[in-house]
Amino acid sequence: MSPRTRTAPPQITIDHAFEDAAMRTLPEDALDGLTQPFKELPPKHFYDARGAALFEQICELPEYYPTRTERAILERAADEIVASTGAGELVELGSGSATKTRVLLDAMARAGTLERYVAIDVTESAVRESGLQLIEEYPGLSVHGLIGDFERHLDRLPAPRARRLVVFLGGTIGNFRPGARRRFLRAICALLERDDRLLLGTDLVKDRATLIAAYDDQAGITARFNRNMLRVLNRELGGDFAPDEFDHVALFDDRNEWIEMRLRARSRQTVTLPVIGLQVDFAAGEELRTEISAKFTRARLEADLAAAGLALDGWYTDPRDWFALSLARRVV
Ligand code: AVJ
Repeated sequence: MSPRTRTAPPQITIDHAFEDAAMRTLPEDALDGLTQPFKELPPKHFYDARGAALFEQICELPEYYPTRTERAILERAADEIVASTGAGELVELGSGSATKTRVLLDAMARAGTLERYVAIDVTESAVRESGLQLIEEYPGLSVHGLIGDFERHLDRLPAPRARRLVVFLGGTIGNFRPGARRRFLRAICALLERDDRLLLGTDLVKDRATLIAAYDDQAGITARFNRNMLRVLNRELGGDFAPDEFDHVALFDDRNEWIEMRLRARSRQTVTLPVIGLQVDFAAGEELRTEISAKFTRARLEADLAAAGLALDGWYTDPRDWFALSLARRVV
């Protein structure tokens, strides 16, 4: 560094849990999921840069209530949450564009405890761009971005510098099946010291029409988001999926209390994925499941938390009880 320039120490660190997109689990997930009788791919593969941008559009849709409902809850509760935890380090799992994060960072700045923002997300562009914006907006804030998969790379998070508030927002916990959900909550529990807290966003069970509309909007953005997974497969695995040959399907499974998104083949078709040496046949009308999004009740959530060594410390909802933020602490 030239002795004449007085540059401030770098406040942003970006760390990679994988070298590039190829290190993601896509090849194995595709091989496993597309050779099953009921085809399935995990929802994390929606989020390349285009998928992340489509998800941002979903969040603005009139039918998609979770984002704005959660934000409204957060706006009302952030000061109380921050005051009750005294947290100086915000650790966000699956941060995306970090819009709601600012509500918490503002509250921490007001409380005078704000030190560092740590974020893990698979979308490199989102982590980088939001991290750079945040260091501009919050003087003195350190940002540590980890490009990785929160299901596999929690052990790559940096050692804590202050009391932690770990946040997992948006209802993304709903993407896990029940067993994996409890495993994941246990892994989060392991990140917490006694005085640290988890803030968890969950979408709640409600009338079916409202739920389905949120995943099958009039403008067709969710359909484009859903089909984006096929474009990701084409790019990463050299595939020849014709995304427009698949219809978007959203349904509510009452027994499991979760939404499913699927892609339904409009006609019989064969797809090849040369990178994994796979040829896949779809019958006309055959469906590929791309996402489950579980909806919760307070009782079920408390049972999940308890099974993971966590206990509910605070429960914040909107007036219609459509979405909940739970504050939880470690009890084991
Ligand atoms: C980001 C997982 C919370 O399940 O509501 C939005 C993803 N899928 N529309 C959700 C999603 C279709 C979203 N999460």
